[in-house]
Amino acid sequence: MTKYPNLLRTIQVAGVHLPNRMVMGAMHTRLETMDQPYQRLAAFYVARAKGEIGLILTGGYAPCPEGVMDAGGLVLNKSEQLDEHRLITSAVNNSGGRIVLQILHAGRYAKVPTCVAPSLGKARINVYPPRSLTTQEVWQTIQDFAHTAALAEAAGYAGVEIMGSEGYLINEFASALTNQRDDEFGGDVDRRMRFPLEIVKAVRSRVRKEFMIIYRISAIDLMDGGMTSEEVCDLARHVEASGADLINTGIGWHESGVPTMAAPVPRAAWIDAVRHIKRAVTIPVMASNRINTPDVAEDIIASGAADLVSMARPLLADPDFAKRHARAEQMRSIPASPATKPALTAFLPTGSPLAW
Ligand SMILES: Cc1cc2nc3c(=O)[nH]c(=O)nc-3n(C[C@H](O)[C@H](O)[C@H](O)COP(=O)(O)O)c2cc1C
Repeated sequence: MTKYPNLLRTIQVAGVHLPNRMVMGAMHTRLETMDQPYQRLAAFYVARAKGEIGLILTGGYAPCPEGVMDAGGLVLNKSEQLDEHRLITSAVNNSGGRIVLQILHAGRYAKVPTCVAPSLGKARINVYPPRSLTTQEVWQTIQDFAHTAALAEAAGYAGVEIMGSEGYLINEFASALTNQRDDEFGGDVDRRMRFPLEIVKAVRSRVRKEFMIIYRISAIDLMDGGMTSEEVCDLARHVEASGADLINTGIGWHESGVPTMAAPVPRAAWIDAVRHIKRAVTIPVMASNRINTPDVAEDIIASGAADLVSMARPLLADPDFAKRHARAEQMRSIPASPATKPALTAFLPTGSPLAW
């Protein structure tokens, strides 16, 4: 009898069978900026797959150059890039894992002078003021998301996560704080929701039904004058109707002053916001932020607040998190895993005396 019956329950999402409810949340690791980035990323993800995590989410890839996080940031928009991504997907899939590519357009948070947004107005956390997208460019950006999703499918990923949280472009369209448009993408709440929903529909139209579409929603934006919880639930319902298979949650915009993931934030502090969404939809919902023990994760699922748990930093710190904790009864202690060596090596420059 396992101590974590809910955490270890399988779940089917679109055509993907997940062996448990534990997910490694999306993270840029900076491996992307080192030499041989795809080989390093493959080693990093393979260590987590061997550690029996149910699903891996990559760090965010922009669908177009102006959507990058910062200069030299990740973009996936060309078929010539597929071979690099196949290094990751084949390594993870051959290790028995499953990996989903996150699509993230940084909007007015992009630390590049070419950054764009629904409306003018600089974010207080960026030095660059954004340019406002024309209506035609908004439609093009929707197609860019769909194109990246199609490339991700061709590269062998199990799905995509559409990043609609943390104050990036999709949030900026959905919130009246950052959207003062008066075309079909702004003006009232229905038109503000149009950008995210058209993205989900466009992605769905370009991929097979077995290909998993995750939408990461701001469960709570922690911004004065931001979206109400009713608006968030309404968006979640429409995201489901537009073709998403799973809703992941994000907490707060990056420019909010409220701590969302620092150590003083209590574990699972934001679960009520997640539960609210879970009640609004019929597709599975994933909880995130400050969930870093299997007991807390088990309680979240057992209580019905969410169906899956995202754990980002716990998996950064410990590739064997899932195996080590959730199977603790069968394997009282898992010695410093052989997976740790390739995982650490991936962080070291080539030729480092510390590399194994
Ligand atoms: C180094 C690092 C990079 C991150 N990069 C991304 C990202 O690319 N996309 C994203 O949606 N979230 C990103 N996040 C946020 C995580 O997905 C997650 O929401 C956050 O770390 C809180 O969850 P945790 O307490 O499980 O770590 C990042 C977090 C960290 C620590």
